[in-house]
Amino acid sequence: MAKRIGVLLSGRGSNFEALADSVAAGRIPGAEIAVVISNREGAPGIDKAKERKIAARVIPSKGLEREAYDRQVVAVLNEHKVDLVCLAGYMRLLSPFFVASFPNRILNIHPSLLPSFPGLESQRQALEYGVKFAGCTVHFVDENLDAGPIVLQATVPVRDDDTEESLSTRILAEEHRIYTEAVRIVLEGKYKIVGRQVIRTN
Ligand code: GAR
Repeated sequence: MAKRIGVLLSGRGSNFEALADSVAAGRIPGAEIAVVISNREGAPGIDKAKERKIAARVIPSKGLEREAYDRQVVAVLNEHKVDLVCLAGYMRLLSPFFVASFPNRILNIHPSLLPSFPGLESQRQALEYGVKFAGCTVHFVDENLDAGPIVLQATVPVRDDDTEESLSTRILAEEHRIYTEAVRIVLEGKYKIVGRQVIRTN
């Protein structure tokens, strides 16, 4: 049975597209993207899913209390028999209910070397801080912001003349690469979590 991925996004959807390309190219063996869900109407990522003939749903979050909203999302994920949830530019914190519904089965991609620069505009935070290396992180998701155990990270050197845009573009290329790799590792089950450490096994 194929492992079914559910993707949650709020906007552009380039990480979703990278995962979809990787699935199509066999870089994540035995996986399929079962459904893409957005909390925002008009998210370009939803149109991209439809173009690829992948089930796509908008579930507007406006005005709903966090857990009430998450119950709707979890119901749709369960309806599509999702094994692994991938947050791909999903700009919401998950409730404890959501996290407990998919224990160690939710991944997030974040555009910084966590624990540095969690939250919003991480690339700008990195530039303003003056770091020499930026990067991205794929981690398991818990109830805290950009927190759970780290699966993979990639570094990107910061250039003196970098703008938020140029740095974000270089980080994004690494995001697309390591998200595929991390999903493959997790779906193959070749890892164990010891404390905060994700250790690869064979
Ligand atoms: C990506 O850079 C992702 O790492 C970031 O939003 C962007 C979404 O782009 N996520 C976060 O900041 C989550 N805290 P995409 O929609 O093209 O994948």
